[in-house]
Amino acid sequence: MAHFLLIYLAFRLSLIYIFFLEGLKMTARNIQPADGKMLVFFVGMGAITSTVLTGIFNIRKGLHKPIGSLTQMGHIRLGKRNENRSPLIREFVPLANINDLEFAGWDIFTDNMYESARHAAVVRSEDLEAVKDEMLAIKPMKAVFNHEWVKKLDGPNVKSGKNYMELAHQLMDDIKNTMKEKGCSRAVMVWNASTEAYHKPCEIHETLAAFEKAMEDGFHPEVAPSQVYAYAALSMGLPYINGSPNCTVDNRAIQELANKMKMPIAGKDWKTGQTLMKTIIGPGLKLRMLGLNGWFSTNILGNRDGEVLDDPANFKSKEVSKLSVLDTILDAKNYPELYGNYYHKVRINYYPPRGDEKEAWDNIDIFGWLNMPMQIKVNFLCRDSILAAPVVLDTLLFIDLARRAGMYGIQEWMSFYFKSPMVAEGLYPEHDVFIQHTKLKNTLRDMMGEELITHLGKEYYDYAKED
Ligand SMILES: NC(=O)c1ccc[n+]([C@@H]2O[C@H](COP(=O)([O-])OP(=O)(O)OC[C@H]3O[C@@H](n4cnc5c(N)ncnc54)[C@H](O)[C@@H]3O)[C@@H](O)[C@H]2O)c1
Repeated sequence: MAHFLLIYLAFRLSLIYIFFLEGLKMTARNIQPADGKMLVFFVGMGAITSTVLTGIFNIRKGLHKPIGSLTQMGHIRLGKRNENRSPLIREFVPLANINDLEFAGWDIFTDNMYESARHAAVVRSEDLEAVKDEMLAIKPMKAVFNHEWVKKLDGPNVKSGKNYMELAHQLMDDIKNTMKEKGCSRAVMVWNASTEAYHKPCEIHETLAAFEKAMEDGFHPEVAPSQVYAYAALSMGLPYINGSPNCTVDNRAIQELANKMKMPIAGKDWKTGQTLMKTIIGPGLKLRMLGLNGWFSTNILGNRDGEVLDDPANFKSKEVSKLSVLDTILDAKNYPELYGNYYHKVRINYYPPRGDEKEAWDNIDIFGWLNMPMQIKVNFLCRDSILAAPVVLDTLLFIDLARRAGMYGIQEWMSFYFKSPMVAEGLYPEHDVFIQHTKLKNTLRDMMGEELITHLGKEYYDYAKED
C-alpha cells in the first residue's frame, strides 16, 4: 500500500512540475517560425545597400565573418551569472537565416548592384569580384521620386502616374510580383535612399483618411516619396525600417496604418559614425558628473549621401536628428550646473576626394572639480557604409522577428541602432547606447519567456541570503 502511495505521489509531483514548466513557457511570446524565404526590399540601392549585399554574399560563401552584427556574432546571457548560459542570439531567438534572404529594390538610377558598388567604391574590389554574379543579378525597379524632395539628384529610372496613390499601387504590384517570382511568403522594406528635405508633419498626417485623400489629390507637396513607399509596404503587410533622418513614419497617419495592419515600424537614421561615438562618450561624462561647455562636431565626406546633404533643406533633416542626441543623454533639466549651457554644433561638409571614407572630428570642452576645463579630441576615420551594413542586417532580421512575435507599431527596443529613435507619443527617446543595449537584450529575453536581467546581483552575497 505504501509502495502504491509513493508511486501516486511521484506521479502527482511530476504533473505539477510539467504544469510549472508549461506555465513558464506560457510567458514567452507565441512566435511564428521563420519558415521559408524572406524578401528584403531596399529603397535606394546606393552605397549602403550595395555594401550590405556584398557583405551578405561574401558571408554566405564563408569568405568573411559578419563583423559588427549583433544578430550573427552576439551572445546573450541568460539566468544567473553562475549558470554559464550565454547562447548566440541567433540560436536563442528564431531569426531568419541569412541564407534564406532574397533581395530586390528600387532606385532612380538603373545601375545593378555590381555597378552601384563600383560607383560607391566602398568595398575592396576582390570582395566585390567574389560575388559579382549575385550582384549583377539585382537590378533596381523604377522608383517613386520627386525632385522637390532631393534637389541634388535626378535619375531616369522613375515611375509615372496621375497621383501618388497610383504610384503606391505600382509599388504594391512590384512587391506582389517580386515575392511571387522569388517564392517568398514574407518580406520587409528598408529605406536606404537619400535623405529628403525636412518637413514637419502637417494636417494631412493627422489621420490615415486625410493622408489617403492627399495621395489621391495629385502630388500634394506635403506627401514625401518615402511616405508613398511606407504606405505601400504597410498596406501589403511588410514591416518598414527608416534608415534615414526622414520624418516618413513619424506621424499619426502612417502609424495608424501600421497599427491597423499590425505591422512593426522602426527608425530613424542609422547610428553609425560620429553619433555612435557621441552616445558612447556622452553617457560616460554624465555618469561621472563631468560638466560640458561645448561639443563641436564636423565631418568631411564625399559620397552621394554627402552631396545630397550639401543642400540646406536636406541637411536640416540630418541636423535635427544629430542634435537631439546630447540633450536627452545629458538631461540639462536635472543637471543645470553641468549641462544647462553647453554649445552644440554639427557640421557636414561635402568634400568629393574622400568618397565614403569620412573623417569626423569632435572637440569636446568639459569641466571638472574646481571648474577646471579639460578637452577631449576625437578623430574618427570611419567608413560610413561599413559601419551601417551590419546595422541594416540586424534591424531587418529583428523587425521580421517582431512581426512574427505579434509586436506591431513603433519598435522602441530597436533604438540601439538609430540616431533618432522612435518612441510612443509623449515619451522622450532613450539615446544612451548602453541602456539601449540592455533594453534590446531584455526584450529578447522577454520574448522567449526568460528572466529579465536587472544587474542587481545581490543574490550572490551572504547578506542577501540572510534576508
Ligand atoms: N552611410 C551611413 O553610415 C549612414 C548613416 C545614417 C544614415 N544614412 C542614410 O542612409 C541613406 C542612404 O545612404 P547611402 O550612403 O547609401 O546614400 P547613397 O546616396 O549612396 O544611396 C542612396 C540611393 O538612393 C537613391 N534614391 C534617392 N531617392 C530615391 C527614391 N525616392 N527612391 C529610390 N531610390 C532613391 C539614390 O539614387 C541613391 O542611389 C541616406 O539617407 C543617409 O543619410 C547613412
